[in-house]
Order: sequence, then structure tokens, then C-alpha cells
Amino acid sequence: MLQRAREEGLAAFAAAGTLEELRSAEVAVLGRKAPVSQVQRELGRLPVEDRPAVGRAVNETFDTLRRAVADREAALRAATEGEVAEDDRLDVTLPGRRPSSGGLHPLTQTLRRVVDVFVSLGYRVSEGPEVESEWYNFDALNFPPDHPARLTQDTLYPAVPGRDDLLLRTHTSPVQIRTMEAQQPPIYIVIPGRCYRRDTPDATHLPVFQQVELLAVDEGLSLADMKGTLEEWARAMFGPEQRVRIYPDYFPFVEPGAGVDVSCFLCGGRGCRVCGNGWIEIMGAGMIHPALFENTGIDPERYTGFAAGMGIERIAMLRHGVPDIRMYYEGDVRFLSQFARGA
Ligand code: PHE
Repeated sequence: MLQRAREEGLAAFAAAGTLEELRSAEVAVLGRKAPVSQVQRELGRLPVEDRPAVGRAVNETFDTLRRAVADREAALRAATEGEVAEDDRLDVTLPGRRPSSGGLHPLTQTLRRVVDVFVSLGYRVSEGPEVESEWYNFDALNFPPDHPARLTQDTLYPAVPGRDDLLLRTHTSPVQIRTMEAQQPPIYIVIPGRCYRRDTPDATHLPVFQQVELLAVDEGLSLADMKGTLEEWARAMFGPEQRVRIYPDYFPFVEPGAGVDVSCFLCGGRGCRVCGNGWIEIMGAGMIHPALFENTGIDPERYTGFAAGMGIERIAMLRHGVPDIRMYYEGDVRFLSQFARGA
């Protein structure tokens, strides 16, 4: 009886292929209803002289079976651990996967390039707030209250209790006023920043865009200094063959005011699909209107100056041959990764 219980028990343990199967075999072979346990319970009913021998045999059977269960369990555990280890094995000789490092946004690249060239000419970077007052954005810049020039720069007015004069700046020119208020000439600053206008998005307009502004105020500055500076900038930006031409244009804060064209850097000025006649309009500029000096406490008899302002998106579009301004803001990695050269 015990002999059979032992053999069947050992066979059941050997047959268990998983730890769960071994658990149920253990219950069947060593549990309360197992054959050995039944023999153990019957011990008391045996004749007294037989009990020691049978008792010892029961104990030995239990010992053997318990050891067998423990051995089988160890073997099964070792096997599963081996499989896990195999799954997790690391082949240190495989070539690594290079993490993608990203890059600067193409507009940031263009903005930095534009600013860097002016910095190399001796200009200092200056910035101002995007939420401006009407005074800095319009009045101090010599926009009369009802002048139609304000209409071309309609914007958004944040609802700030107690302040009905706040707006999102429509250009970086208010920083001209802030700077001239804060310091006397010589002033040579370059002003990058985000601007806002109430425009419906299309291929060439967005309600949020970026400008870079230039301001120089000193003794004896003339239109020739302005043209020379802008020409020097254009050559550093687009190539040594660049030419610049200026023609009359109107902005209330400059007199005379000018539009500035650079020779087309795509066709070299011969005329192509992008430029038409060999010239590309790239910024507004002009000599600082004396009214601005009066508004900021700078002597208009002693000082003269010039300013220029340009849109970064437009320059980037021309540089990259991008036909739609919205592509810069859609965040499509397939578009952006083409420019990811880093800095
Ligand atoms: N602020 C003008 C604009 O946004 C550009 C400009 C700047 C023109 C400086 C002349 C001088 O349209």
C-alpha cells in the first residue's frame, strides 16, 4: 500500500510540467485525502506491536515524497528562470540605435541668423512686451488717433479690468520708443519679437508672426548709413553679390519712409518665378521722425537716426522656398526635420 503510494506519488511529481501542476499533484499525493495520510490515520487501529514499524514506514514515505516535491519544484523554477533569462538576453555586440537629436525650428534659425548679422555690426539685442499700450504701439509712434494707418494694423485687445488701452502689439516698433525713453544716444539696437494682427490665416498671413526691428540713433546718421547698413546685412545674409534698393513708402514714424528690396537671392537678380523682376521686397525702413524724438526726450536738432523692420516668416519662406506660411506652424515633423541641422 505504502509502496504503491510512493511510486504513484513520485510519478505524479515527475509528470508535473509546471509549478501549478506540481501544486495539484502535491495536494493529491501529500494532502489530507492522500493514500499515505489515510494510512497514517489508520495507525491507531493497528495492533500495538505493528505500530512502530508501520509508523516508521509512513514517515519515510512522507519524507521521500516531500523531498521529491521540493526537488521537482527547484527543477521547474530553474527552467522558467532560464527561459526568462533567455528572453531578456542582451546582445552587447548589436549596433546601437542613435537617439534623434532634434533641431532648431526653421523660423528660429532664420531669426537668429538675422539678429546675429546685426550683432556682428555692433547692435545690441533688446526686447519689449507683447501686450502693449496704445501709446507705445501707435500714439508715440506718430500714428494720429484716427489715421487709417491704424486700420492696416488692427489687432486684439485683451480684457484687463481698469485698462482699456492694452493691445497685442502689431509690430516691434514700440520698443523703439521704450528704448529712446530709457536712454540717450548713441543707440544701436536690434529687436526680435512676436507680433499680432487681426488677420485671417492664408498662405502669406497669420495672426501671430515674428519681426526683427533695427534702431540706430546717433549724431550725423543719414539715409546713406541706413542703406549701407542694410546692404551689409543683406550680403552677410544672402551672399556677397547682394544689392539693395530703396524707394519711397509711408510709415508714420519715419520721414522719409522707405520700402527696401534686395536682389533676388534665388535667381541672382535676373528675374524668376518667385521675384518676377529680380527684386524682392523685404522690409520697411526710414529716418526716425522728429516727433518720436520729441515724445521721448531726445534732441531732434542734435540727433538723427534710422529704423527698419522685417518679417521673419517671409524671409524664411524665401530662403527655403516654402510656398505657405502655415507650414511653419503646423508642427509636421516631415516638414520640420528637413531643417533640423541644429543651430
Ligand atoms: N513697423 C513696421 C511694420 O510692421 C515696419 C517698419 C519698421 C517700417 C521700422 C519702418 C521702420 O509694418
